[in-house]
Amino acid sequence: MKSLTDLRTGAVAVAAALALAGSARAADAGRPPYLDPAQPVEARVDDLLGRLTLDEKIALVHGDSKFTVAAIPRLGIPRRWLSDGPHGVREDVGPDTFKPANRTDDFATYLPVAVALASTWNPDAARAYGNVIGEEARRRGKDIMLGPGVNIQRTPLNGRTFEYLGEDPFLASRMAVSYIKAVQSHDVSSCVKHFACNSQETERNTVDVQMDERTLHEIYLPAFKAAVQEAGVWCVMGAYNRFRGQQCCENDYLLNQVLKTQWGFKGVVISDWNGTHNGTQAVLGGLDLEMGTAKPYADYYLARQFKEGIEKGAYPMSVLDDKVRRNLRVMFALHFLESRPEGSLNTAAHQETAQRVAEEGMVLLKNAGGALPLDAGAITSIAVIGENAVRLQAHGGGSTEMKALHEITPLEGLIRHSGGRINFTYSQGYGKEAGVAAADRAVRAAKAADVALVVAGLNHERTFDCEGADRNSLDLPYGQDELIRRVAQANPRTVVVLVSGSPVRMGAWLDQVPAVLQAWYAGCEGGRALARVLFGDVNPSGKLPCTFPKKLADSPAYALGAYPGKGGIEPYTEGLLVGYRWFDTKGIEPLFPFGHGLSYTSFAYSDLRLVAGTDSKGPVVTVEFKLTNTGSRAGAEVAQVYVHQAKPSLQRPLRELKGFRKVALKPGERQAVSIPLAREAFAFYDAEKAAWVAEKDDFEIAIGSSSRDLRLRGNFSLPVAATWK
Ligand code: GLC
Repeated sequence: MKSLTDLRTGAVAVAAALALAGSARAADAGRPPYLDPAQPVEARVDDLLGRLTLDEKIALVHGDSKFTVAAIPRLGIPRRWLSDGPHGVREDVGPDTFKPANRTDDFATYLPVAVALASTWNPDAARAYGNVIGEEARRRGKDIMLGPGVNIQRTPLNGRTFEYLGEDPFLASRMAVSYIKAVQSHDVSSCVKHFACNSQETERNTVDVQMDERTLHEIYLPAFKAAVQEAGVWCVMGAYNRFRGQQCCENDYLLNQVLKTQWGFKGVVISDWNGTHNGTQAVLGGLDLEMGTAKPYADYYLARQFKEGIEKGAYPMSVLDDKVRRNLRVMFALHFLESRPEGSLNTAAHQETAQRVAEEGMVLLKNAGGALPLDAGAITSIAVIGENAVRLQAHGGGSTEMKALHEITPLEGLIRHSGGRINFTYSQGYGKEAGVAAADRAVRAAKAADVALVVAGLNHERTFDCEGADRNSLDLPYGQDELIRRVAQANPRTVVVLVSGSPVRMGAWLDQVPAVLQAWYAGCEGGRALARVLFGDVNPSGKLPCTFPKKLADSPAYALGAYPGKGGIEPYTEGLLVGYRWFDTKGIEPLFPFGHGLSYTSFAYSDLRLVAGTDSKGPVVTVEFKLTNTGSRAGAEVAQVYVHQAKPSLQRPLRELKGFRKVALKPGERQAVSIPLAREAFAFYDAEKAAWVAEKDDFEIAIGSSSRDLRLRGNFSLPVAATWK
């Protein structure tokens, strides 16, 4: 059993070898091409590949601890370090277990969860977020960061909804591309996950996802395709589930045909941890790096048994060489053998980014009578109620858990913000152990205060927002519904803040509560961000990246009885109609629609012009309009562009998001906004042609503040049809 010290000693040996090679380099101009950064990457790959023994090649395609891949000291190849996760650099675990290594140098910046990042609808925020992860990964010596997670939200109860970027492939793609480019700009590889269709935790290791080809290409693949073709992501993680009968980590269709052949992916496919199940399928099905298999490392499918298969001719050496090439290519792309940025950890700048993303990601769901923002000068007492007002969330949820250097809770953020001017009382009100007395006490406190603030929601315990299991219902747990009703009866100035990572039902109390703010799990600066939003230092600008249904039966996977599947099969019978695509097409009223989010100011949309044009690939249209801040506060609006085809030859959702822009405006300010739509914005995937098709037809282009609050509409006639692969 290796210790972490052993692993790090190995790094020392490698560094020494590199230094020797370096000094040799200085002395010997004929240094090997693989050590020469001036050489093209492919030349370096070819040269190094030719120097590797069979054992060394095998050592490069499977883990030698929970989160490392062996070094090749003889050739100066350092050990590779992988790390979770999407929200920051996870603490060290292992080396041969998921248990914490109990180091004292692995605290890191705990960023708001991915669904909160998606709620910013701001690719610049995603870039800042990715920069934090890249810099902290470098400082923590991590080469491959296992995120972002981009699985489309098909059911609101997926335990990992909080880790992903919502229900729409266009929004998820835009946010993922910015995130990945930023991370990789620091010589750290992102690893986009989980490829593909890993939309539930129920039976996650075995469930066999079945869907039609068009749904796959229009809904579940686009964010991965954008990660590969636009962001140049270097690693892709195979999912735990099966797809059309084959495990995703060994899936010839997904990995070899779609990812590598159709999309041209040149990087490394990494298995999810213990997601590899069959030696031959792993070898031939497109897996390039096996991690986390529940076996001794030598018994991994891509270890001894793979070597023996090569030696007896069961597999050609070319199969192994391709895997090794991919691993080497990523190493060279990360300047693995050269000096790399030092990075930084837990800096004020990183905490500022965490705070800004948290502020921008909070979604003001309801604000009747201007209940918010709170006027700090006119309020003397606030009753803060709820376990989530004081609960730390960082170290939970599964593989996204973080060892945060600090985490400002909602209550602490409020107290800090008021600077002693406001008297806060705290009552648990609800919680895992709270009893009726806790609720009664909370109601009394609410009655006695100027304002009652219920910090409600979920947490990262299993069957809530947590990997490994789905939620059992849409309901708030621990009797929160009743508590909120009682508090609202006791104090009409009641505000509900939801600390959660997925939609919850609110029907029991929403009518009685003037204001509701979706705060998500807002990271290490979450409490500070929350206070600044509640007191109006910051004007909320978040928009929902997912539909909040009134009840579970309204959402597609339930309405069709398709989830969680029977007999190990999960049929995606709703097809394209995921999220708002379902609610809009079926005419179902959601509780809060996709793209919804209020502001403390108001915005007017005007002067729509659809300017037809062409680009290198054919006709395009530029959506031009004016956005005005008609209120008295500065704010930011996310203008969204939805496209509807008049007479498609195949059934299409009523409308689909194809563009958005976040625009900051001062009071009274008007800005011209221009959003180009290329042919992709009009196309659907034709499975028979295995190609994208944009038909010659009329298209309604609607611009609005949410998918249900459309302010401008125009008609665009696509003059010619187009088909492309
Ligand atoms: C987990 C997750 C994956 C994570 C990996 C390593 O089970 O599915 O997202 O990166 O294992 O912790």
